[in-house]
Amino acid sequence: MKYMTGNEIREKFLKFFEDRGHLILPSASLIPQDDPTLLLIGAGMAPFKPFFTGKMKPPSPRIATCQKCVRTGDIENVGRTARHHTYFEMLGNFSFGDYFKKEIIPWSWEFVTKELGIPADKLWITIHTEDDEAFDIWHNVVGLPEERIVRLEENFWEIGSGPCGPCSEIHVYLGEERGGGKPTCAVGCDCDRFLEIWNLVFTQYNQNEDGTYTPLANKNIDTGAGLERLASVLQGKPSNFETDLIFPIIEYASEVAAVEYGRERKTDISLKVIADHARSMTFMIADGILPSNEGRGYVLRRILRRAVRHGRLIGIDKMFLAGAVDVVIEMYGHVYPNLVEKREYIQKVIEMEETSFLRTLRQGSELLSDEIAKLEAAGATVLDGATAFKLNDTFGFPWELTAEILEENGMTMDKAGFDAALEVQRKMAREARDDKAGRPVIYNTRGIDIASLKVDEAADTGKIVMLYPAHDAQPIENAEDGKDVAVILDVTAFHAEGGGQLGDLGRITAPTGVIEVENTKKLPDGATIQIGRVVEGTVNVGDAVTYEVNSCRKSDIARNHTATHLLHAALKSGLGGHVNQAGSYVGPDRLRFD
Ligand code: SER
Repeated sequence: MKYMTGNEIREKFLKFFEDRGHLILPSASLIPQDDPTLLLIGAGMAPFKPFFTGKMKPPSPRIATCQKCVRTGDIENVGRTARHHTYFEMLGNFSFGDYFKKEIIPWSWEFVTKELGIPADKLWITIHTEDDEAFDIWHNVVGLPEERIVRLEENFWEIGSGPCGPCSEIHVYLGEERGGGKPTCAVGCDCDRFLEIWNLVFTQYNQNEDGTYTPLANKNIDTGAGLERLASVLQGKPSNFETDLIFPIIEYASEVAAVEYGRERKTDISLKVIADHARSMTFMIADGILPSNEGRGYVLRRILRRAVRHGRLIGIDKMFLAGAVDVVIEMYGHVYPNLVEKREYIQKVIEMEETSFLRTLRQGSELLSDEIAKLEAAGATVLDGATAFKLNDTFGFPWELTAEILEENGMTMDKAGFDAALEVQRKMAREARDDKAGRPVIYNTRGIDIASLKVDEAADTGKIVMLYPAHDAQPIENAEDGKDVAVILDVTAFHAEGGGQLGDLGRITAPTGVIEVENTKKLPDGATIQIGRVVEGTVNVGDAVTYEVNSCRKSDIARNHTATHLLHAALKSGLGGHVNQAGSYVGPDRLRFD
């Protein structure tokens, strides 16, 4: 086998399918478009679901891509096995009602044996138990002996609801010495003696929301080959981590930590986690995901924090992730140019999260170590929910991390007790918020030139001049997601509550965070203040922002405002000039005239 770099394999694959009439598309964003069933793109076919189901017409009936993927279902295994990753690239070719099994099976064989040069006698095939058609092609057209074609019940590929079907996998035999020497090891066992390198899915059904299957009008092909796996085979490496697609990040991290790779299992796990997570976070942020406490943002936060923690485990006690991003961009920038364009932005987002998490980690780790020592002294192995909750609530120490650290020490956490404590705290917070919300806060605006603040209803950009916790008068420098905040902008289009009219709502987008505006008020000194919550990332004083006022609601309020004037004038002309308005409500839904 000839050594091939990751880049060469990617290029060869795309070229092979371009030569067979495929349109080559760049990787789609990691954020699924119009697909609420997915949090992140985790397979090459995922961006093409509407083409498979026939809901949309593809730009070509044959497409091939190298797709960025993130999967975090078994994040705990990253670094512990040869193949688990949160980020990986999937090479794939797709037929939408065009070619089917008799084309793709011989093509895949040709690519693997001729283009990649993997010896035919090292290859094994699996097919679905009932797929005689695939068997026939592998046996009679490609010419594989019967004993090399293994029928497996589990060869059916699906990803929740959506297109799916039976599949056929190509496996490489890596040698007797691999897989821990289990005598029972055979194709289909994931012990690494036989490595699956390519999955050919014969997409011919749709899995409906209720779990039933309907045959698709067109028969399709969806294949997926993990680039890192192929690289490990062609570069003769024991795991994906030693390939040129990942190893430079390991080298970077071992240099920063002054540790050597390959000496100690624990250190190697941390180095692999950092390398894997550095790729994920770089690509996720480049695609517009920001750390937050929900959804995709939470996946990113968790990945980033795990990387920081593993850095600490191998002795790194300074910021190091921005450097890892540089290595990732160096390796991937020519294939994914948005990494280069967004370098500074990616590094800024990471630096903010890393700074705040390092602080949290320092405090939390010490406290948890004390607790572990106490448990050991008492001969106990379960940390009570209340203590785990206190670490989380008072010190911001993530519970997953508490659980992981406990596990490393042969202990567990009382998760049910933790959940119960969380529920009590949420209830108290709700009550406290309701109570505080009733009390007006006089925000401290000393230090700003009120006269220079502008209200311009046509504007959509400005700068954050002051930031406060929503229920606190004293300004702060920044706020992260989940925090209730009040913001003063140098130029605002948000109309403040007053004269019975409700304040505007909307969204303020900063370079590294987003605020959902839930009300707008005027302070006694005339400054307009937007009140709401940071829903993504972090916002900072001085940030240049864009904003969007909820314009439908604003128009409804304006209409009711006009109607108040019309009503006033009508009453005056009908009843006389003594008619006086003493109070009113002007909202998007109705008006009231007192
Ligand atoms: N969808 C299949 C997979 O992810 C083949 O692309 O393995």
